[in-house]
Amino acid sequence: MSDTASELPVTIAGTGSYLPEKILTNADLELMVETSDDWITSRTGIKERRIAAEGEHTSHLATNAARKAMEQAGLDPAELNLIIVATITPDTLTPATACYVQQNLGALNAVAFDISAACSGFLFAMKIAKRLISTGAFENALIVGAEKLSSFVNWEDRSTAVLFGDGAGAAILTRGEEGGGEILATEIGTDGSQTHLLNIPGGGSACPITSKNADKQLATLAMLGKEVFKHAVTRMRDSANQVIERSGLKAEDIKLVIPHQANLRIIDAISKRLAVPSDRVFVNLHKYGNTSAAACAIALDEAHRSGKFEKGDHIVLVAFGAGLTWAAAAVRW
Ligand code: ACO
Repeated sequence: MSDTASELPVTIAGTGSYLPEKILTNADLELMVETSDDWITSRTGIKERRIAAEGEHTSHLATNAARKAMEQAGLDPAELNLIIVATITPDTLTPATACYVQQNLGALNAVAFDISAACSGFLFAMKIAKRLISTGAFENALIVGAEKLSSFVNWEDRSTAVLFGDGAGAAILTRGEEGGGEILATEIGTDGSQTHLLNIPGGGSACPITSKNADKQLATLAMLGKEVFKHAVTRMRDSANQVIERSGLKAEDIKLVIPHQANLRIIDAISKRLAVPSDRVFVNLHKYGNTSAAACAIALDEAHRSGKFEKGDHIVLVAFGAGLTWAAAAVRW
């Protein structure tokens, strides 16, 4: 699903991120499951990940990231009209995590809701917010990707425990073309025939957690990694190419590609297929692992604050996740 030419311009006016303090290294995991730093590093590129503290929920991570994005954008909480939190690890099934974030920020003029699109969630939120702003319905939106995946990982399953981490990233979207990154094109897509490849089978209405199944770890991530891998490369390549083309750009015009941070081998494959050299592809998954909806948002903020792109540069964000879902955005900073 793509943009229409008649939309008003929408700009990313600020970014922010927050990572919990606690670091879980590959060496720590060697003591928990039968794995090795060598296996994790060579198969994924991950060296360590962050784990939220006791009592630190997804909404807390999201709020901390949001405050930094608002500070950079120079926006007061009262000026926010819209808050979208993308997460698959909400504080509670209801109300939405966005409601807790609204309360924490004191952003009482904002409409707040969550979306669930797994690792593509932040870019789904970007597309929704862009569309709502560009129609004139809203002026300033906060979009957040936030996850506390450590609460939904089976810490005895080595095939998933080594992959995921906690964190949050945020951006302020505002109407106009001045003072930030103008979102040129966005793309989102879903293939619901592949829900079996990656899911959290328990804890929803299909399979509530009861005293009879409580020992089966059903409310944790289950993944057919090899299959997911193949879909990820194709979908991310295609959606990135679509936003590049629709923005009237070529691969050589892209200063930085910011891909979902799931696996270094997937990122390398995307870099080759897009013909963008690896030094123009942002990577931070060695520090944080896969933080699902938060990954692209954290990477955008880190790349922005560390000067990886400047005024006038074109960047492309691209993601892939459970659903299956995929998404991309092209931005002129
Ligand atoms: N330590 C040591 N050995 C392990 C570990 C581990 N942590 N995990 C698996 N192994 C073993 C397996 O048991 C298997 O052993 P066997 O050959 O004796 O059966 C062997 O290593 C190979 O396992 P594979 O699963 O085939 O490993 P693969 O190379 O496919 O890597 C991985 C697995 C890293 C999960 C990869 O498939 C991947 O990254 N997939 C995509 C993940 C992704 O993109 N997810 C999308 C977003 S996530 C979201 O939406 C929430």
